[in-house]
Amino acid sequence: MSKHQLSADLFTEADQQQLASFSCGDTVVGRACTEWIRGSDVLDSMQRGSGVWLYRNSDDEIVGFGSLGPIRWRWPLPDGDYAKLAIIPMLGIDERFQGQPPGKEWRYSRQIMNHLIYEAHVFSAMQKKPVEWLLLLVHPENKPAIKLYEEFDFVMIPDVRRGAANSCVMKHRLAE
Ligand SMILES: CC(C)(COP(=O)(O)OP(=O)(O)OC[C@H]1O[C@@H](n2cnc3c(N)ncnc32)[C@H](O)[C@@H]1OP(=O)(O)O)[C@@H](O)C(=O)NCCC(=O)NCCS
Repeated sequence: MSKHQLSADLFTEADQQQLASFSCGDTVVGRACTEWIRGSDVLDSMQRGSGVWLYRNSDDEIVGFGSLGPIRWRWPLPDGDYAKLAIIPMLGIDERFQGQPPGKEWRYSRQIMNHLIYEAHVFSAMQKKPVEWLLLLVHPENKPAIKLYEEFDFVMIPDVRRGAANSCVMKHRLAE
């Protein structure tokens, strides 16, 4: 096994004690992301049914976190019938580990995306009917995030904005 292999542990409220020095960086999005996992937003999201994971490296350092939950939205957006979909409410990597490790094969961002997409398929398989789409919101200026999501076959939905930050919505096909 590579020393860069991350482990994923389900997050609980008690884990917030370990996040005092966790920071996704001093940008608007980075600060929002840090506050999400260190404050009450993560707990609210878990109450709405999200799973949240902390990812640790082989030195037991917290590299990042990810989340996955159900959402009921009109689909297709903006005015289709209501459908059950999956969403990544938030994910973030501590700034010390962003862009790491340098080789792409074990890049932490990719390990986390692979894990969340795997969990989305598990979630879909547990439903009466397969869940067709995995969604996420992203700020249009968040270039590293958009590039990452595009590598995992997320496609921007044109002319749709959602959330308090007027974010773009990206979709990834889970099932036909
Ligand atoms: C978004 C985030 C998870 C991505 O993780 P990361 O480790 O920084 O991602 P990567 O280094 O794999 O970068 C993704 C790609 O964007 C590229 N990139 C980095 N900075 C860039 C920039 N300013 N402009 C364009 N592309 C950029 C990288 O080169 C990489 O491309 P590559 O795959 O061709 O090498 C991480 O930056 C983060 O936690 N940011 C703060 C919180 C956040 O934005 N969360 C997501 C909310 S939607």
